[in-house]
Formats: sequence, C-alpha cells, structure tokens
Amino acid sequence: MIIRVLSDIHGNLAALKAVLSDSAGALADSTVCLGDIVGYGSHPVECINVIRKECHVVVAGNHDQGAAGLIGVSNFNRDGQTAIEWTRTQISLEQVDWISALPLHTFYYGISFSHASMKDPQSWIYILNRQSAVDAVLATGEYLSVYGHTHVPMQWDRLGSCSDKPAGTFSDYSLVNCGSVGQPRDGDPRAAYLLINTEERTFRHVRVEYNVQSAANAILEAGLPENLAKRLHLGK
Ligand SMILES: [Fe+2]
Repeated sequence: MIIRVLSDIHGNLAALKAVLSDSAGALADSTVCLGDIVGYGSHPVECINVIRKECHVVVAGNHDQGAAGLIGVSNFNRDGQTAIEWTRTQISLEQVDWISALPLHTFYYGISFSHASMKDPQSWIYILNRQSAVDAVLATGEYLSVYGHTHVPMQWDRLGSCSDKPAGTFSDYSLVNCGSVGQPRDGDPRAAYLLINTEERTFRHVRVEYNVQSAANAILEAGLPENLAKRLHLGK
C-alpha cells in the first residue's frame, strides 16, 4: 500500500496542483490530507474543492477550524488572522459545514494521522521537542504516526530522538512530519509531500518545483499581507 500524504496547503493552488501531478506520487493507492487546507493563501475555495475530490482521508487543521469559525484566531499571528478573516468571506456555507464535520485525528491502515500532536489534537500542540514527541507517540500506540502543523519535514523515534534528514525507514512508534505543500518553512520553497510504503516500512519526502511567483502574485492580488507572498520565495 502506497499512501500519499499532503498537509498545510494553505490556499496555495499552484503548489497543490504541482504536488498532485508529480510523477513520484502517481503510484499512490490513496491520498491523505492532514489539514490547513486554507489560510495564508489566495485560493481557499479551490483548494477545498480539490482536496475533497482527491483525498480519501482528511483531518482538520487549526486554520481550517478558524476559517469555519469553530475556534478563535487570537493565537494566530497578525498575518494569519488577516488571512483567516479574508478566507471567511470566500468559502461557502456548504464548505464550512464540510470542514466542521472533519475529525482532528484518525487511523487509516494502522497509521495514526493528525494535524498537530495526537496527544490532545484540539490543543494544537506543536511537536518541537523530545517530550512533545514522546507524548504524541504514546498517545497513539501505532507503529507509525504522521502529522503536520510545523511545516518542517522531520522524523522522531520512540525515544524522542529526531532528525531533520529522515532515514526513510520506520520501526515501531515512529513519528513523521510530512512537511508543507503550500508554505514550507525549512528554507526550501519547493512544495513538500510524503509517500509511505506500508509493506516495506519506508517513506520518502518528495519536493516539487512549482510557480512560486504566480502564488505570490495571487496573494498580493487578493489584497492579503505582502509578507505572506514574500515568505513563499524564502521557504520560511
Ligand atoms: Fe499550517
């Protein structure tokens, strides 16, 4: 079973289309989305529609819940708040209903999938250190847990040791961040996604070139903050 995992699209339709048409993912049997479909970017409506069409499993991210009015945005930075308030004016009530029905954590083929830490998904905990990684692993008890939220590809083992250059194999109680499609923050502006081979117990982070300039221009044309366009070029 090959599973393609996308996360943190953030309304970046150009990046999403590039990832979905990438040849490395063409053999995937199934596609999972780990949320933050909207926020920051200029095409929330279109990204929701594409994800609904292409993904077999979807969990919600904090920006999705913010756009749907399920959570407040006081914890978001100023640009994030501006983008969510704009996104609320764009998406339909039917899309709000769809977001509202999404789980925060699910299991699929024995793998745990969530946007933030599986320990307490609604608290939107960032997995950034040994303790938060161990807490997340212990919360699921599955041999593999995959998450997003930090926008940085990463792998943790069951003892909480981490690598930002993942090995490509996983053993019991591994924790893997799939990176971000639409707003990478590891210094590489290319779109990121993850391919998992469940039989071989391997995974691969894939990076895809896309037209960053067009995505940045679309952000400016939508009247969203300039910094949201600039950071796409930096991958930060
Ligand atoms: Fe995000």
